[in-house]
Amino acid sequence: MAGLFTPLELRGVTLRNRIAMSPMCQYSSEDGFATDWHLVHHGTRAVGGAGLLIAEATGVEPRGRITPNCLGIWKDEHIPALRRVTSFVLEHGSVPGIQLAHAGVKASRHRPIHPTPNKFVPIEQGGWMPVGPTAKRFGRDGPVPHELTIPEIRAISDSFVAAAGRAVEAGFRVVELHFAHGYLGHSFLSPLMNERTDGYGGPFDHRVTFLIDTARLVRNALPDDIPLLVRLSCTDWVEGGWTIEDSVETAKLLKREGVDLIDCSSGGASRRADIPVGPGYQVALAEQIKREAGIAAGAVGLITEPRQADAIIGEERADLVLMGRQLLREPYWPHRAWVDLASERPPVIAREYAWALSEARR
Ligand SMILES: Cc1cc2nc3c(=O)[nH]c(=O)nc-3n(C[C@H](O)[C@H](O)[C@H](O)COP(=O)(O)O)c2cc1C
Repeated sequence: MAGLFTPLELRGVTLRNRIAMSPMCQYSSEDGFATDWHLVHHGTRAVGGAGLLIAEATGVEPRGRITPNCLGIWKDEHIPALRRVTSFVLEHGSVPGIQLAHAGVKASRHRPIHPTPNKFVPIEQGGWMPVGPTAKRFGRDGPVPHELTIPEIRAISDSFVAAAGRAVEAGFRVVELHFAHGYLGHSFLSPLMNERTDGYGGPFDHRVTFLIDTARLVRNALPDDIPLLVRLSCTDWVEGGWTIEDSVETAKLLKREGVDLIDCSSGGASRRADIPVGPGYQVALAEQIKREAGIAAGAVGLITEPRQADAIIGEERADLVLMGRQLLREPYWPHRAWVDLASERPPVIAREYAWALSEARR
């Protein structure tokens, strides 16, 4: 039976355990560049023992950033600073992954530490015009977004492809496409955000076009040994919105395109969503995708305890556990879990600490 410390193979990549750091925006970049902060943020969690670290939503073009301080990968100049992060992570036995993203209608917002967090950044102050499937505002402020033309949509798919190439060049060994949380990708999927009547909107088959095309193009561009993940908002939690059944059908299509794992999140398309937040509240979504679409699934959302995480893997509800806030609080959580679960596997913490801590275990 598999457990939290059973390695996971995805194409040519082996994760030393089933613990992944969920992508989390750090809002610590200028012009998209990674900084010392990223090295420390990722480096600490690599030392702490996670199997996979997925770097935050990383803009495939400048207007695809949520804030002016988001990480980017739209130009070759971004590569060296990212490579510094991936080298350290690899050296410490963790696998560096990256989430390629476009913020769509939710772009050009102030970062959380700004005096007016989440407010639209006016264009004359360094902001930009958000774009989306439909000229419909998401927040209460800011301009009505630009409705993308078909050539513009295709150009964004191409930006994902170019970004994936740079990601590999920068040393990332796992690539994830961000199609969740009401950002550009998800906004094409959800009928709550997409009111188009062309080949990219309307019936299910049209709304998934942007995702399937982008996944196919990125898969074809990636080396065979690099796994491709897709993060979905598996349900909008709103009547008339995107559903888990839609996600299962989409996961089947993505599997055919060579996608390796669905990272199962939810929400973000509507402020009316009634989300049943609680321990492991999205695990059932991963379980359904894994079972009904026959593809590997990642579970995320309020997974905080070693036994809880181990049971998710042991009961085959998911193949990977992604953790966000608990790994911010406790970067060495994987080591704690290894001790709590009395794992027989080799220790996961960096060798520089392992010799000292192995004594403490007795
Ligand atoms: C500070 C912060 C930043 C986040 N940024 C992203 C992001 O860049 N991309 C993404 O898909 N989810 C993002 N999320 C959501 C997390 O990846 C995760 O799905 C969510 O926090 C639930 O997991 P948790 O309960 O373990 O924190 C973010 C969450 C936090 C707390």
